[in-house]
Amino acid sequence: MSQPLPQRPSYQALSAHYLSAKDLHLRDLFAADAERGTRLAVEFEGLYFDYSKQRVTEETIDLLIKLAEESDLDGRRAAMFSGEHINITEDRAVLHTALRAPRDAHISVDGHDVVPDVHEVLDRMGAFAERIRSGEWTGHTGRRIRNLVNIGIGGSDLGPVMAYEALKHYSQRDLTFRFVSNVDGTDFVEKTLDLDPAETLFIVSSKTFTTLETMTNATTARSWLLAGLGSESDNSPVAKHFVAVSTNAEKVAEFGIDTANMFGFWDWVGGRYSMDSAIGLSTMIAVGPDGFGQLLGGFHSIDEHFRTAPLRENIPALMGLLTVWYSDFFGAQTQAVLPYDQYLNRFPAYLQQLTMESNGKSVSLDGARVDYATGPVYWGEPGTNGQHSFYQLIHQGTLTIPADFIGFWHTLNPVGEHHDYLTANVFAQTEALAFGKTAAEVLKEGVDESLVPFKVFEGNHPSSTLMVDSLTPYTLGQLIALYEHSVFTQGVVWSLDSFDQWGVELGKVLAQRVIPELQDTAEPQLHHDSSTNELIHRYRAARPA
Ligand code: F6P
Repeated sequence: MSQPLPQRPSYQALSAHYLSAKDLHLRDLFAADAERGTRLAVEFEGLYFDYSKQRVTEETIDLLIKLAEESDLDGRRAAMFSGEHINITEDRAVLHTALRAPRDAHISVDGHDVVPDVHEVLDRMGAFAERIRSGEWTGHTGRRIRNLVNIGIGGSDLGPVMAYEALKHYSQRDLTFRFVSNVDGTDFVEKTLDLDPAETLFIVSSKTFTTLETMTNATTARSWLLAGLGSESDNSPVAKHFVAVSTNAEKVAEFGIDTANMFGFWDWVGGRYSMDSAIGLSTMIAVGPDGFGQLLGGFHSIDEHFRTAPLRENIPALMGLLTVWYSDFFGAQTQAVLPYDQYLNRFPAYLQQLTMESNGKSVSLDGARVDYATGPVYWGEPGTNGQHSFYQLIHQGTLTIPADFIGFWHTLNPVGEHHDYLTANVFAQTEALAFGKTAAEVLKEGVDESLVPFKVFEGNHPSSTLMVDSLTPYTLGQLIALYEHSVFTQGVVWSLDSFDQWGVELGKVLAQRVIPELQDTAEPQLHHDSSTNELIHRYRAARPA
């Protein structure tokens, strides 16, 4: 294992380097180097990653690359791709990259080649998707399935809903897709209000098939279906209206779903890395097996890029190292992701689980508490909406907020001049953030002296601009994989297990304890703190008898 982060020579060199780098202004860096805008940019398969507006010099990048080397990024990356158990707290391999490996690849987990298993499931998914898309699969009453409802949460929801939204342009429009995740009954009620049970198929997606939210929603869905079909005492319609995506065949059967209609995956696929496994069934039904294949192709292209490109030209590695630079040296606590494409409206929400469930950790691989900052808060909204909301704070607030701008050379909906206006805003925002406006410039505009301080933009706000040709299944796969491997790079530098998620457990356990305390008819003996006890008392008093 590499040395603790603060003891790595490159980390110490970066600490010293930061003292001078922090005072450099992007205005001066650009003025001193006419080529900066093209030199600090990487192009790969039509992706154009411009990081020249980041607060870095050549020396910063050299040192960050040394840091990656001293953190053994090479070794850890090879270990991940080769199926070693790098998720040490759960003793599991981490092989989402195998989900998009070509049919002729060989990747073994504990001596077993998993690629044929992956393709066997993909083929079954493909055949099933085609039966739904063509109308061949009919419901219990013989009517065609027109509504697909994915029930899942976290990694079993965020990827499917994000991908459906992102790829709507390519979806079969006579099918309706809905995504139910929240245990709040409102989610189920509102999402099914206008659906005809006879034409509705539920995809119950849960790796464990034990998650409270998903099992509660699935049970409600089963009752909704049976009541809607007037079949309360007969479960047989379930077979034609429910399929499952899970690793837990036993629980799937227990729920009443025929395991012939179960699409499996494996414990080496983390929930937040699972949208290209069978969890992507709704995506495949929406865009078809070919579209799904293209999505996997995009993921795979970035896997290969990450695995083989030198670090200086390695986009996800650079993205990850930049996040380390801002988190650990500038004290930046957040990272904004600003996609300029309406179809990517759920992309930031998807990235929140990917990034924060992965690197929201404070204990390193050796079990010791870290004494440096780890994963930042990822957040964002599609542009240009965000500009009329929170950009004020990025431009003139007191926080350092590195931002990723994502734009497209071509729009899927060329309407009038919209795309020119949209893209002009991408470029204008990164320019305004980097260069700002000085007091002299404000004065020159004839602004009253008393207002000058309010109208000054200090600039020097860091951003990357990632330009993509157009939003396709392939480029969506690329975009997601860029962030997956950026997260991996960060986790390696921070010596984290980026693939467990113990932090979500305590709340789950406590909720199980509180549920009967809310429901029991006899007044329960409460042993919580005084705040929790009082909240429970008040809820019981308000609860309908
Ligand atoms: O939030 C915790 C978590 O375990 C996630 O990692 C996972 O994506 C989600 O719950 C859903 O779990 P499952 O797919 O097992 O229902």
